[in-house]
Amino acid sequence: MSRLFSRAILGAALLALCSGMAVARDDPMRMLSGRPAGSNVMDPMTSLVAPAKTEGEAAGNVELGGLPDGPGAEETYYQCVACHSTEIIKQQRLTDARWDELWNWMRDTQGMVEPDADSRATILAYLKQNFSSERQASQ
Ligand code: HEC
Repeated sequence: MSRLFSRAILGAALLALCSGMAVARDDPMRMLSGRPAGSNVMDPMTSLVAPAKTEGEAAGNVELGGLPDGPGAEETYYQCVACHSTEIIKQQRLTDARWDELWNWMRDTQGMVEPDADSRATILAYLKQNFSSERQASQ
């Protein structure tokens, strides 16, 4: 009787110990919170932390590949990312004429689908506004 009792006590104590340990053990992901991003390049956990934004990226919409928000941003994204990333667009500073030329080149030699005239006008206006050598970007 008393042996059974002490076994029960032992069991309960073990159970308490184990569950206590489980609770107390640190969640590895918790260690990441609150740490400055990219603080240490040698730290393997650094890649799990959102990278610090550079000044140029801060304006972009992450859902649209970092394209700056504005009329035509979404149309541009869907028209252009079928073949390449938005990076190739974001780095451009072109004249209006050069954007027209590039559009035709993309369509005539790369097989870009020509959308309806409205979409074409919207997208080209967006490109000329935001990635221009002739005027300041709207952002
Ligand atoms: C059907 C495929 C396709 C589509 C759609 C497309 N492109 Fe391209 N684009 C290409 C290819 C192929 C290149 C050449 C890539 C390279 O040189 O690595 C290119 C290159 C470019 C370049 C770089 C030109 C240079 O001088 O180096 C820009 C800017 C560009 N595209 C913008 C756009 C924009 C803006 C859109 C949407 C309106 C678009 N592309 C849609 C295929 C496409």
